[in-house]
Amino acid sequence: DGVTVVTHPLVAHKLSIMRAKDTSTARFRQLLREISTLLCYEVTRDLPLEDYPVETPVGPTTGQRIAGKKMVFVPILRAGLGLVEGMLELVPSARVGHIGLYREPVTLDAVEYYFRAPEDVAERLCVVIDPMLATGNTAVAAIERLKERGVTNLRFVCLVASPEGLERLRGWHPDVPIWTAAVDERLNDHGYIVPGLGDAGDRLFG
Ligand code: PRP
Repeated sequence: DGVTVVTHPLVAHKLSIMRAKDTSTARFRQLLREISTLLCYEVTRDLPLEDYPVETPVGPTTGQRIAGKKMVFVPILRAGLGLVEGMLELVPSARVGHIGLYREPVTLDAVEYYFRAPEDVAERLCVVIDPMLATGNTAVAAIERLKERGVTNLRFVCLVASPEGLERLRGWHPDVPIWTAAVDERLNDHGYIVPGLGDAGDRLFG
């Protein structure tokens, strides 16, 4: 149904440490980076390949390379930044777009304060990244913005999602498949994911 839960043991192990409230900022940052590489592996799993000729030292063979659209990672500021470096390790040639959105504390509406994307973003596969999918307002707004720029090929990657957020994002953007490391129980009255891992931006940056 468009939602892939990444259940790899390394992901589950690292995410559990990130959830623990006594985990330090340094450790949290390191774990987020490590998990992002694993999530990148999963979100690129079905990319189409094309053949091309390769000369090994011994003779000719047929190599394979990723076909078609090049990628752009679009972290949602601030917390999405914690996932970029680890993804770029696997796809070093990817471009990076930035979108700044914060949640208005009372209404929980997403408010945009920054947007900058590569010139050719519309020709690329856009992977929008944010550790948390809570109400879903932020993800819905970020994807809306990219679609305004002509982007048609989108994926969304997060670490922890709420059932409400998944439903909202799938409802608004049914064309955008989602990868998440966990689907938690619910949202609380303040729009925090329960049990979640707290405020990812604060835990990452202070
Ligand atoms: C958090 C989180 C997501 C958003 C998710 O960001 O990093 O971007 O909330 O919530 P939603 O699904 O209900 O919209 P926050 O607004 O705290 O900003 P920050 O990353 O700069 O701390």
